[in-house]
Amino acid sequence: MENLVVYYSRSRNTETVAQEISKAVNGDTKKIELIKDGSFAGAAFKALLGLKGKIKSIDFNVKDYDNIFIGSPVWAGKSSTPINTFLSDIDLTGKNVFVFITQADSKTPYPVYESIAERVGSKGGKVIDSFFIQTDMKNPLTSTQAAKPISDWIDKNRAYLQ
Ligand SMILES: Cc1cc2nc3c(=O)[nH]c(=O)nc-3n(C[C@H](O)[C@H](O)[C@H](O)COP(=O)(O)O)c2cc1C
Repeated sequence: MENLVVYYSRSRNTETVAQEISKAVNGDTKKIELIKDGSFAGAAFKALLGLKGKIKSIDFNVKDYDNIFIGSPVWAGKSSTPINTFLSDIDLTGKNVFVFITQADSKTPYPVYESIAERVGSKGGKVIDSFFIQTDMKNPLTSTQAAKPISDWIDKNRAYLQ
């Protein structure tokens, strides 16, 4: 099985999670990047409206993979604008998709899972499972903090990943 871990991260928390997942599944890691980062308020406002951010061109093809891990921070209670763009542009026909999310709030971000799952489904993909980790806006998430919950999550889904 070929595994791809694709994510957006503004302050590296989601990136840390992506790197740990990638290690656990021996996957390729690809970062979605905005052409221009913009302000915190602007990012939150655009996300609240469900807008898409202008992203740099993508140098990979999801067709080369069986399992796609898609990661986003929560912005204003929604998915981040670069991930909105990715989900709108991509063809996920026949792909198993795993969603991972980081946010500062402690409650599970079900509405964000659901909105991502709906878009994955409309692009032909199937969401197998989701993962969430709470972060602290003042202290970056460390790989030590992330490692155990991620390895538990991956172990739970091992049957899909071999
Ligand atoms: C523009 C913006 C909006 C945010 N909105 C929320 C929010 O609505 N709820 C929440 O729990 N965290 C919110 N956060 C915190 C991030 O979700 C959290 O810090 C996340 O781990 C950041 O991931 P990153 O470091 O990969 O960018 C927001 C952060 C930013 C930058």
